[in-house]
Amino acid sequence: MGRVGIDARSTPPLLDVSDVTVRFGGITALDKVSFQVEAGKIVGLIGPNGAGKTTLFNCLSRLYEFSEGRIAFEGRSLTEVQPHGIASMGIGRTFQNLALFRTMSVRQNVMLGGHSRTSTGYLSNALRLPSVRREEQRLREHVEQVIELLELGSVAETVVADLPFGTQKRVEFGRALITQPKLLLLDEPAGGLNHEEVGALMDLLRRIRSELKLTILLVEHHMNLVMRVSDQVVALNFGRKIADGTPAEVQANAEVIKAYLGAEAA
Ligand SMILES: Nc1ncnc2c1ncn2[C@@H]1O[C@H](COP(=O)(O)OP(=O)(O)O)[C@@H](O)[C@H]1O
Ligand SMILES: [Mg+2]
Repeated sequence: MGRVGIDARSTPPLLDVSDVTVRFGGITALDKVSFQVEAGKIVGLIGPNGAGKTTLFNCLSRLYEFSEGRIAFEGRSLTEVQPHGIASMGIGRTFQNLALFRTMSVRQNVMLGGHSRTSTGYLSNALRLPSVRREEQRLREHVEQVIELLELGSVAETVVADLPFGTQKRVEFGRALITQPKLLLLDEPAGGLNHEEVGALMDLLRRIRSELKLTILLVEHHMNLVMRVSDQVVALNFGRKIADGTPAEVQANAEVIKAYLGAEAA
C-alpha cells in the first residue's frame, strides 16, 4: 500500500516482506513479520522449532495464503501472480524433505525442473516448432552447466535412489537452479549431512552466489553454517521477528540467546 509514489531513485530491495501475519486456528504462526533482502546477499533465517520459518517459506512460494501484510519481489506483489507463476517470477526453492523422482537419473531430474519454466506453449510444443527446438537446446545446455557447477557429472546417468543422501540433496539444488531463479529459497539444506558434507555445502553456496549472481534465503538449524555463510541473519521466535542484523549482531542478541537456551531447556 501507498508505495507507488515512493522516491523513484531508490530501487526496491529484491524481497520486501512487510507485516506478514499467518494464523492457523488459534496459533499465530507469523506475527507481523517484516524484513528485506538485498540482491546478491545470503540471508539466514533462524529460530527454534515452530518459530514459523517453513510457514514463511510457504508464503514466499505461495503454498500458503497470508491474510495480512505484503510480500513484494522486485517491487511487485506476490499475490499478483498465480501460485504456479512463482518460478517464472524468479523464485526457486528446495524442500525440507527431498522432492525428487527417485527412479529417474540425475540428469532427468534436473531437466524436469526446467520444464516448468519453458515459455513456449502447449500447441507449439505439439507442432515441434523451431522455437521449441531452440528452447530445448538451450535447456539441454543449461542442464549440463548446472550439472558441472554441482559436480554431478560422474553420476549424471545414475538413478537418484542409488545415490548417497548428500548427493541427492545436490540434485534437488540442481532442480531449483535450472529454473534460473533470482532468489533461491533453501529449507534446511544441511539437514542430514555429515561434517564433511556441510563444509562442501558452504563452499557450494558461496560458489552459487558468486557464479550465478543469486540471492539466497536460507533456513537452517546448523548455526555454524548459517553464521559463516550469511551476510544477514533474521531470527524468529513464536512467529515474531526478534533480531535482524549481521551474524555477529544476531549471535550477541539477548532475545536470540534466550530463545535458544529456552528451546534447549524445554
Ligand atoms: N498447515 C498448518 N496447520 C496448522 N498449523 C501449522 C501449519 N503449518 C505450521 N503450523 C504451525 O505454525 C507454527 C510454525 O510452524 P513452522 O513454520 O513449521 O515452524 P518452523 O519451520 O520454524 O519449525 C507451529 O506452531 C506449527 O505447528
Ligand atoms: Mg521447518
